Amino acid sequence: MVDMETIVNLCKARGFIFQSSEIYGGIGSSYDYGPLGVELKRNVKEAWWKAMVSTRDDIVGLDSAIILHPKVWEVSGHIKNFTDPLVDCKHCKQRFRADDLEGDKCPACGGELTDARQFNTMFKTFVGPVEDDAAVAFLRPETAQGIFINFSNILASTRKKLPFGVAQIGKSFRNEITPGNFTFRTREFEQMEMEFFVMPGTDEEWFNYWVSERYNWYVKLGIKPDNLRMRPHEKEKLSHYSKATTDIEYNYPFGWGELEGIANRTNYDLSVHSEGSGKQLTYFDEASGEHIIPYVIEPAAGADRAALIFLIDAYDVETIEKGDKKDKRTVLRFHKSIAPVKAAVLPLLRNRPDLVETAKKLAGDLQKTFPTMYDDTASIGRLYRRQDEIGTLWCITVDVQTIEEDNKVTIRDRDTMDQIRMPIEGVKQYLRDKLEAED
Ligand code: GAP
Repeated sequence: MVDMETIVNLCKARGFIFQSSEIYGGIGSSYDYGPLGVELKRNVKEAWWKAMVSTRDDIVGLDSAIILHPKVWEVSGHIKNFTDPLVDCKHCKQRFRADDLEGDKCPACGGELTDARQFNTMFKTFVGPVEDDAAVAFLRPETAQGIFINFSNILASTRKKLPFGVAQIGKSFRNEITPGNFTFRTREFEQMEMEFFVMPGTDEEWFNYWVSERYNWYVKLGIKPDNLRMRPHEKEKLSHYSKATTDIEYNYPFGWGELEGIANRTNYDLSVHSEGSGKQLTYFDEASGEHIIPYVIEPAAGADRAALIFLIDAYDVETIEKGDKKDKRTVLRFHKSIAPVKAAVLPLLRNRPDLVETAKKLAGDLQKTFPTMYDDTASIGRLYRRQDEIGTLWCITVDVQTIEEDNKVTIRDRDTMDQIRMPIEGVKQYLRDKLEAED
């Protein structure tokens, strides 16, 4: 498996992810997505939205605010419970999450540690010009609460019947004690969460359904099943709202870690918000003629973690043998819907204006349908390697024969490196069919 250093270096060199505020020495655990990274993350979010919202009749979308009424966090239990146990080293003064440590000594210097105290990881801020207690607000630590507090609005406006879900993608913020491992754990990150409201009593069945749906989503998008596993949480380690949680874990270069969590949140959130707000967040069940509080199954994924594993899992170094010569190529074998660039158009000779013009025209035409790059800044062999390294699905070469003989171009497949020749007019439809074909 590839190591993290190689991934971090490739991300910087090719414009996927940069250390944030680098020119000022960088800010810990903050990252900026570069030109290719932003496309990659958009593709991840779009694939999630397509699977969770656009192709389903039973799930709708929402985009709620990041700063909610402070009462939301009090009632949801986050002010009291959204904490991590913090310890300090009495000797070197470093701070750690107590539940990350093995043993009772400082992992950095072996010094004695303080007793653990609970540290709330919500970011506090002030709303308005006066910084007093009445103006305190929080940046959301999960997108989920924005969904629960809109339950009645969504029910009344969509007339959905149980079971139905509400999905949301957006930034969340946590003042993590020990962020790290590149974009795996940061203080500002994007979540892709869905709250699926079900009849009480059907929750366990729906929980199992969503665990396998979500696992299959990653596999369908090319993640190797050997690098995925399910980890049910032990009862005593469940979050304050959960009856059962299963994590989908990934085998990161630094070991197995959470990728997504699927939780049975019971009727906890709707119940506490009904009580806290005095508004009945209930559902009228026509069969029984009663108002009930639905149970909730929540698949909660991270867009940054997903983008990271798509990068790690796609990374491959291949040895190519040509006669008795051996060569190496680095290739990101992204799934077609995740690849940031779908095609690259490359003129074989950059000093031939007719080749360049034809290649640019083709690239411009393809760009109207899918992300396409034009590049003539190196020899063809080097251009192929560059495109392989960013996972471009197809390289299309315009050569002298195109102009002088047959109006055909060569299409090279990223994975097999096989080449076919076809009329220039047919290229767009050919690639579009391939992109749209079911796996
Ligand atoms: N609403 C439930 C919830 O927030 P979670 O397991 O705390 O559950 C869901 O978060 C997902 O969000 C995680 O599986 C992970 O992918 C992502 N995530 C959580 N904290 C993160 C962090 N500090 N940095 C990056 N991603 C994070």
